[in-house]
Amino acid sequence: MKITVVGAGNVGATCAHVLAEKDFANEIVLLDIKEGLSQGKSLDIWQTGPVDNFDTRLKGVTGDYSKTSGSDIVIITSGLPRKPGMSRDDLIATNAGIVKTVTENVIKHSPETILIIVSNPLDVMTYCAYLTAKIDSSRVFGMAGILDTARFRTFVSGALDISPKDIQAMLLGGHGDTMVPLPRFSTVAGIPLTDLLPKEKIESIVERTKKGGGEIVNLLGTSAWYAPGAAAAQMAEAIAKDQKRIFPCCVLLKGEYGLKDIFLGVPVKLGRRGIEEIIELKLNADEMKLLQSSAKAVKEVMEVLDKMAVVA
Ligand code: LAC
Repeated sequence: MKITVVGAGNVGATCAHVLAEKDFANEIVLLDIKEGLSQGKSLDIWQTGPVDNFDTRLKGVTGDYSKTSGSDIVIITSGLPRKPGMSRDDLIATNAGIVKTVTENVIKHSPETILIIVSNPLDVMTYCAYLTAKIDSSRVFGMAGILDTARFRTFVSGALDISPKDIQAMLLGGHGDTMVPLPRFSTVAGIPLTDLLPKEKIESIVERTKKGGGEIVNLLGTSAWYAPGAAAAQMAEAIAKDQKRIFPCCVLLKGEYGLKDIFLGVPVKLGRRGIEEIIELKLNADEMKLLQSSAKAVKEVMEVLDKMAVVA
Protein backbone atom coordinates (compact mmCIF):
# COMPACT_ATOMS: atom_id res chain seq x y z
CA MET A 1 0.00 0.00 0.00
CA LYS A 2 1.52 3.25 -1.19
CA ILE A 3 -0.06 6.54 -0.21
CA THR A 4 0.92 9.97 -1.45
CA VAL A 5 0.04 13.14 0.43
CA VAL A 6 0.39 16.25 -1.71
CA GLY A 7 1.11 19.39 0.30
CA ALA A 8 3.41 19.26 3.32
CA GLY A 9 1.74 22.14 5.12
CA ASN A 10 0.00 21.66 8.44
CA VAL A 11 -2.86 19.50 7.12
CA GLY A 12 -0.69 17.36 4.83
CA ALA A 13 2.01 16.75 7.43
CA THR A 14 -0.54 15.93 10.13
CA CYS A 15 -2.29 13.52 7.76
CA ALA A 16 1.04 11.80 6.94
CA HIS A 17 1.83 11.54 10.64
CA VAL A 18 -1.54 10.03 11.54
CA LEU A 19 -1.28 7.61 8.59
CA ALA A 20 2.19 6.52 9.71
CA GLU A 21 0.94 5.88 13.24
CA LYS A 22 -1.88 3.74 11.87
CA ASP A 23 0.87 1.56 10.36
CA PHE A 24 -1.00 -0.01 7.44
CA ALA A 25 0.90 1.57 4.52
CA ASN A 26 4.32 0.35 3.40
CA GLU A 27 5.21 3.74 2.00
CA ILE A 28 4.03 7.30 2.38
CA VAL A 29 5.30 9.92 -0.05
CA LEU A 30 4.92 13.51 1.10
CA LEU A 31 5.24 15.94 -1.81
CA ASP A 32 5.50 19.72 -1.75
CA ILE A 33 6.83 22.40 -4.08
CA LYS A 34 8.80 24.17 -1.34
CA GLU A 35 12.40 22.92 -1.32
CA GLY A 36 13.23 20.92 1.80
CA LEU A 37 9.79 21.16 3.44
CA SER A 38 8.48 17.68 2.65
CA GLN A 39 11.92 16.09 3.16
CA GLY A 40 12.28 17.69 6.58
CA LYS A 41 8.78 16.87 7.76
CA SER A 42 8.80 13.28 6.48
CA LEU A 43 12.19 12.66 8.05
CA ASP A 44 10.94 14.00 11.37
CA ILE A 45 7.77 11.86 11.18
CA TRP A 46 9.76 8.78 10.12
CA GLN A 47 11.95 9.25 13.18
CA THR A 48 8.90 8.85 15.42
CA GLY A 49 8.62 5.25 14.14
CA PRO A 50 10.98 3.68 16.68
CA VAL A 51 9.18 5.52 19.48
CA ASP A 52 5.64 4.98 18.28
CA ASN A 53 6.27 1.52 16.86
CA PHE A 54 5.39 1.71 13.19
CA ASP A 55 7.00 0.23 10.08
CA THR A 56 5.71 2.66 7.47
CA ARG A 57 8.52 4.34 5.53
CA LEU A 58 8.19 8.02 4.71
CA LYS A 59 9.78 9.85 1.83
CA GLY A 60 9.71 13.58 1.16
CA VAL A 61 9.98 14.88 -2.40
CA THR A 62 10.10 18.37 -3.88
CA GLY A 63 7.86 18.58 -6.94
CA ASP A 64 9.02 15.26 -8.44
CA TYR A 65 5.78 13.43 -9.18
CA SER A 66 7.60 10.44 -10.68
CA LYS A 67 8.31 9.43 -7.06
CA THR A 68 4.55 9.18 -6.42
CA SER A 69 4.05 6.68 -9.22
CA GLY A 70 1.92 3.64 -8.49
CA SER A 71 0.19 5.21 -5.48
CA ASP A 72 -2.95 3.39 -4.37
CA ILE A 73 -4.35 6.47 -2.65
CA VAL A 74 -3.44 10.14 -3.13
CA ILE A 75 -4.59 12.81 -0.69
CA ILE A 76 -4.49 16.36 -2.04
CA THR A 77 -4.15 19.04 0.63
CA SER A 78 -2.46 21.71 -1.53
CA GLY A 79 -3.66 25.28 -1.62
CA LEU A 80 -3.86 28.34 0.55
CA PRO A 81 -5.65 28.12 3.92
CA ARG A 82 -8.22 30.66 5.08
CA LYS A 83 -7.32 33.84 6.94
CA PRO A 84 -9.72 35.53 9.39
CA GLY A 85 -12.56 37.26 7.52
CA MET A 86 -12.32 34.94 4.52
CA SER A 87 -14.87 32.33 3.58
CA ARG A 88 -13.68 29.05 2.10
CA ASP A 89 -15.13 30.23 -1.23
CA ASP A 90 -12.75 33.21 -1.31
CA LEU A 91 -9.94 30.74 -2.01
CA ILE A 92 -11.36 29.45 -5.29
CA ALA A 93 -9.26 31.46 -7.76
CA THR A 94 -5.91 30.50 -6.26
CA ASN A 95 -6.69 26.98 -5.22
CA ALA A 96 -8.44 25.84 -8.42
CA GLY A 97 -5.26 26.35 -10.45
CA ILE A 98 -3.21 24.51 -7.84
CA VAL A 99 -5.61 21.57 -7.54
CA LYS A 100 -5.80 21.25 -11.33
CA THR A 101 -2.00 21.10 -11.77
CA VAL A 102 -1.56 18.70 -8.86
CA THR A 103 -4.32 16.39 -10.14
CA GLU A 104 -2.85 16.28 -13.65
CA ASN A 105 0.55 15.29 -12.30
CA VAL A 106 -0.86 12.74 -9.88
CA ILE A 107 -3.02 10.97 -12.48
CA LYS A 108 -0.16 10.88 -14.98
CA HIS A 109 1.89 8.77 -12.58
CA SER A 110 -0.89 6.87 -10.78
CA PRO A 111 -3.76 6.38 -13.23
CA GLU A 112 -5.42 3.76 -11.02
CA THR A 113 -5.29 5.76 -7.81
CA ILE A 114 -8.12 6.81 -5.54
CA LEU A 115 -8.09 10.58 -4.99
CA ILE A 116 -9.14 12.21 -1.72
CA ILE A 117 -9.44 15.98 -1.91
CA VAL A 118 -8.97 18.14 1.18
CA SER A 119 -8.28 21.58 -0.39
CA ASN A 120 -10.85 24.35 0.04
CA PRO A 121 -13.44 25.34 -1.02
CA LEU A 122 -13.82 21.60 -0.56
CA ASP A 123 -16.85 20.69 -2.66
CA VAL A 124 -15.73 22.76 -5.62
CA MET A 125 -12.09 21.66 -5.43
CA THR A 126 -13.36 18.05 -5.52
CA TYR A 127 -15.33 18.96 -8.64
CA CYS A 128 -12.19 20.57 -10.09
CA ALA A 129 -10.14 17.41 -9.44
CA TYR A 130 -12.90 15.26 -10.95
CA LEU A 131 -12.99 17.34 -14.15
CA THR A 132 -9.20 17.21 -14.39
CA ALA A 133 -8.67 13.55 -13.52
CA LYS A 134 -11.36 12.24 -15.89
CA ILE A 135 -11.79 9.10 -13.78
CA ASP A 136 -14.94 7.51 -12.40
CA SER A 137 -16.52 9.50 -9.59
CA SER A 138 -16.26 6.46 -7.29
CA ARG A 139 -12.50 7.20 -7.22
CA VAL A 140 -12.50 10.96 -6.61
CA PHE A 141 -14.19 12.49 -3.61
CA GLY A 142 -13.66 14.96 -0.81
CA MET A 143 -13.04 14.94 2.92
CA ALA A 144 -15.33 17.13 4.97
CA GLY A 145 -18.05 15.08 6.64
CA ILE A 146 -15.75 13.20 8.99
CA LEU A 147 -14.30 16.50 10.16
CA ASP A 148 -17.66 18.21 10.51
CA THR A 149 -19.26 15.27 12.34
CA ALA A 150 -16.15 15.03 14.53
CA ARG A 151 -16.75 18.61 15.59
CA PHE A 152 -20.42 17.88 16.24
CA ARG A 153 -19.54 14.74 18.24
CA THR A 154 -16.91 16.62 20.25
CA PHE A 155 -19.39 19.33 21.25
CA VAL A 156 -22.04 16.71 22.17
CA SER A 157 -19.41 14.86 24.19
CA GLY A 158 -18.65 18.07 26.08
CA ALA A 159 -22.32 18.86 26.68
CA LEU A 160 -23.18 15.38 28.01
CA ASP A 161 -19.84 14.51 29.60
CA ILE A 162 -19.85 11.24 27.63
CA SER A 163 -17.05 9.69 25.59
CA PRO A 164 -17.02 10.86 21.95
CA LYS A 165 -16.52 7.20 20.99
CA ASP A 166 -20.13 6.53 21.92
CA ILE A 167 -21.49 9.46 19.96
CA GLN A 168 -22.57 8.89 16.34
CA ALA A 169 -23.51 11.81 14.14
CA MET A 170 -24.72 12.37 10.62
CA LEU A 171 -24.44 15.43 8.44
CA LEU A 172 -25.17 16.40 4.84
CA GLY A 173 -24.43 19.22 2.42
CA GLY A 174 -21.52 21.44 1.53
CA HIS A 175 -18.46 22.07 3.67
CA GLY A 176 -19.46 25.62 4.52
CA ASP A 177 -21.87 27.58 6.65
CA THR A 178 -24.81 25.89 4.90
CA MET A 179 -23.80 22.37 6.00
CA VAL A 180 -26.68 20.37 7.48
CA PRO A 181 -25.95 18.54 10.76
CA LEU A 182 -28.75 16.04 11.38
CA PRO A 183 -29.62 15.66 15.09
CA ARG A 184 -32.46 13.27 14.17
CA PHE A 185 -29.84 10.85 12.76
CA SER A 186 -27.40 11.31 15.66
CA THR A 187 -27.26 9.00 18.66
CA VAL A 188 -25.41 8.34 21.90
CA ALA A 189 -24.83 4.58 22.21
CA GLY A 190 -27.99 4.08 20.19
CA ILE A 191 -30.08 6.55 22.23
CA PRO A 192 -31.48 9.35 20.03
CA LEU A 193 -29.63 12.57 20.76
CA THR A 194 -32.97 14.35 20.66
CA ASP A 195 -33.97 12.39 23.83
CA LEU A 196 -30.85 13.46 25.72
CA LEU A 197 -30.41 17.16 25.09
CA PRO A 198 -32.95 19.99 25.00
CA LYS A 199 -33.80 21.43 21.60
CA GLU A 200 -32.04 24.76 22.29
CA LYS A 201 -28.81 23.03 23.31
CA ILE A 202 -28.86 20.89 20.15
CA GLU A 203 -29.48 24.00 18.08
CA SER A 204 -26.49 25.76 19.61
CA ILE A 205 -24.28 22.72 18.93
CA VAL A 206 -25.52 22.64 15.32
CA GLU A 207 -24.65 26.33 14.93
CA ARG A 208 -21.22 25.91 16.52
CA THR A 209 -20.50 22.94 14.22
CA LYS A 210 -21.46 24.91 11.12
CA LYS A 211 -19.01 27.63 12.10
CA GLY A 212 -16.46 25.18 13.55
CA GLY A 213 -13.77 25.87 10.96
CA GLY A 214 -14.19 29.65 11.32
CA GLU A 215 -13.94 29.43 15.12
CA ILE A 216 -10.45 27.99 14.71
CA VAL A 217 -9.45 30.41 11.95
CA ASN A 218 -10.33 33.27 14.31
CA LEU A 219 -8.28 31.77 17.12
CA LEU A 220 -5.22 30.80 15.10
CA GLY A 221 -5.21 33.22 12.18
CA THR A 222 -5.17 30.23 9.83
CA SER A 223 -7.28 27.12 9.37
CA ALA A 224 -7.34 23.96 11.43
CA TRP A 225 -5.07 20.98 10.77
CA TYR A 226 -5.18 18.31 13.49
CA ALA A 227 -8.79 17.25 12.94
CA PRO A 228 -8.73 17.75 9.12
CA GLY A 229 -5.49 15.74 8.81
CA ALA A 230 -6.79 12.93 11.04
CA ALA A 231 -10.11 12.82 9.17
CA ALA A 232 -8.40 12.41 5.78
CA ALA A 233 -6.22 9.65 7.23
CA GLN A 234 -9.33 7.85 8.48
CA MET A 235 -10.77 7.83 4.97
CA ALA A 236 -7.53 6.39 3.58
CA GLU A 237 -7.59 3.69 6.25
CA ALA A 238 -11.18 2.70 5.40
CA ILE A 239 -10.19 2.37 1.73
CA ALA A 240 -6.88 0.57 2.27
CA LYS A 241 -8.38 -1.96 4.68
CA ASP A 242 -11.60 -2.30 2.67
CA GLN A 243 -13.48 -1.55 5.88
CA LYS A 244 -16.72 -0.53 4.17
CA ARG A 245 -17.31 2.14 6.77
CA ILE A 246 -20.15 4.62 6.57
CA PHE A 247 -18.99 8.22 6.53
CA PRO A 248 -20.35 11.43 5.11
CA CYS A 249 -18.06 12.30 2.16
CA CYS A 250 -18.25 14.83 -0.65
CA VAL A 251 -19.28 12.91 -3.77
CA LEU A 252 -20.81 13.42 -7.19
CA LEU A 253 -24.57 12.97 -6.96
CA LYS A 254 -26.39 11.46 -9.92
CA GLY A 255 -29.99 11.86 -8.84
CA GLU A 256 -29.69 10.83 -5.19
CA TYR A 257 -31.61 13.21 -2.90
CA GLY A 258 -33.16 14.61 -6.11
CA LEU A 259 -29.84 16.27 -6.96
CA LYS A 260 -27.48 15.66 -9.84
CA ASP A 261 -24.25 16.99 -11.38
CA ILE A 262 -23.20 18.35 -8.02
CA PHE A 263 -20.51 17.44 -5.48
CA LEU A 264 -22.05 17.41 -2.02
CA GLY A 265 -21.61 15.69 1.34
CA VAL A 266 -23.77 12.58 1.82
CA PRO A 267 -23.29 9.29 3.67
CA VAL A 268 -21.43 6.67 1.66
CA LYS A 269 -19.94 3.24 2.08
CA LEU A 270 -16.16 3.57 1.79
CA GLY A 271 -14.07 0.55 0.80
CA ARG A 272 -11.24 -0.59 -1.46
CA ARG A 273 -13.14 0.52 -4.57
CA GLY A 274 -13.66 3.99 -3.12
CA ILE A 275 -17.30 5.09 -2.96
CA GLU A 276 -19.06 1.72 -3.03
CA GLU A 277 -22.53 3.02 -2.27
CA ILE A 278 -24.33 6.30 -1.71
CA ILE A 279 -26.83 6.06 1.14
CA GLU A 280 -30.09 7.96 0.90
CA LEU A 281 -31.55 8.99 4.24
CA LYS A 282 -35.29 9.48 4.63
CA LEU A 283 -35.27 13.21 5.25
CA ASN A 284 -38.24 15.19 6.51
CA ALA A 285 -39.38 18.34 4.73
CA ASP A 286 -37.28 20.69 6.90
CA GLU A 287 -34.09 18.65 6.45
CA MET A 288 -34.69 18.43 2.69
CA LYS A 289 -35.12 22.19 2.48
CA LEU A 290 -31.83 22.76 4.29
CA LEU A 291 -30.07 20.29 1.97
CA GLN A 292 -31.48 22.02 -1.08
CA SER A 293 -30.28 25.41 0.07
CA SER A 294 -26.81 23.99 0.78
CA ALA A 295 -26.82 22.43 -2.70
CA LYS A 296 -27.76 25.80 -4.18
CA ALA A 297 -24.84 27.50 -2.44
CA VAL A 298 -22.37 24.84 -3.64
CA LYS A 299 -23.75 24.92 -7.18
CA GLU A 300 -23.19 28.69 -7.34
CA VAL A 301 -19.50 28.23 -6.56
CA MET A 302 -19.25 25.31 -9.02
CA GLU A 303 -20.58 27.70 -11.66
CA VAL A 304 -17.90 30.23 -10.70
CA LEU A 305 -15.33 27.52 -11.43
CA ASP A 306 -17.04 26.71 -14.75
CA LYS A 307 -16.90 30.39 -15.76
CA MET A 308 -13.22 30.62 -14.80
CA ALA A 309 -12.65 27.80 -17.32
CA VAL A 310 -9.65 26.59 -15.33
CA VAL A 311 -10.40 23.06 -16.42
CA ALA A 312 -10.90 22.58 -20.15
C1 LAC B 1 -11.95 23.50 8.43
C2 LAC B 1 -11.23 23.77 7.17
C3 LAC B 1 -9.97 23.01 7.05
O1 LAC B 1 -13.14 23.23 8.39
O2 LAC B 1 -12.04 23.62 6.07
O3 LAC B 1 -11.30 23.55 9.49
